[in-house]
Amino acid sequence: MKVWSVANQKGGVGKTTTAVSLAGLCELHGARTLVVDMDPHGSMTSYFGFDPESIQPSLYDIFQVGEIDTRFTKSIIRHTKLKNLHILPASTAIATLDKQLGAKSGMGLAVVKAISHLSDDYDHVFIDCPPMLGVLMVNALAACDHLIIPVQTEFLAMKGLERMLNTLHMIERAKSIDIAYTIVPTMYDKRTRASVESLQYLRDNYAEHLWNSMIPIDTRFRESSREGKPISHFRVSTRGARAYSLLLDDILQGKTVEKKAVRV
Ligand SMILES: Nc1ncnc2c1ncn2[C@@H]1O[C@H](COP(=O)(O)OP(=O)(O)OP(=O)(O)O)[C@@H](O)[C@H]1O
Ligand SMILES: [Mg+2]
Repeated sequence: MKVWSVANQKGGVGKTTTAVSLAGLCELHGARTLVVDMDPHGSMTSYFGFDPESIQPSLYDIFQVGEIDTRFTKSIIRHTKLKNLHILPASTAIATLDKQLGAKSGMGLAVVKAISHLSDDYDHVFIDCPPMLGVLMVNALAACDHLIIPVQTEFLAMKGLERMLNTLHMIERAKSIDIAYTIVPTMYDKRTRASVESLQYLRDNYAEHLWNSMIPIDTRFRESSREGKPISHFRVSTRGARAYSLLLDDILQGKTVEKKAVRV
């Protein structure tokens, strides 16, 4: 089982779209795939037709019980309309976790422990993160084998990337782990100067961890989210779907730069 987290502290950069698109492609290839929604807004949970306001049980419950066992973890997971794709949904109640748990020790590994019970059941797990630092983000980073950082190709997003990398390094130090990561330029529009120049900025400053292609702007993503289907199950031949397919091939083959993950 390989665990991928998709994170960036900046909102609206394509995190949920990236997680759903990569998971959709894995399911299409017949891989047993789980998506984990760790965003209190529950965008991914809604995407697959569940209501984050009322869903129970949810990720929230993982933070409430002392001992998480396999049966408990599996009881939270729901099937989606896609055969090989399951979801561990978010409820909006997870927004209260930071206040509730404070500095309670051990909470940074709650999701790692829950997911560890599923290693025989799934080939790929994709975790969708909230756009802010807190107990959920810490859990998502601690749980993953590889972090994907979508970065919108516009100027303001460059500052967001810097913040995200600072957070990443802080968590690496605190937990004595080394997290492999790939920066993925998103919403690229070659007709705009902002897109062209910010892609160049990424190439000049982050070449070592930058995916060597980009996800183009494609209105079909909005349409596919309205339909509640990953782009691969909605319009497989669009530019956006082809780009995510290329990204999946590259990250599976380790073509994007990887630091070796070392867990201590
Ligand atoms: N490549 C793209 N081209 C066009 N639209 C896109 C693209 N990627 C994502 N979108 C659209 O942009 C919006 C924001 O995307 P998404 O929800 O994936 O971002 P996010 O980073 O998860 O946001 P949040 O921080 O709020 O969770 C959505 O409406 C989505 O359909
Ligand atoms: Mg999102």
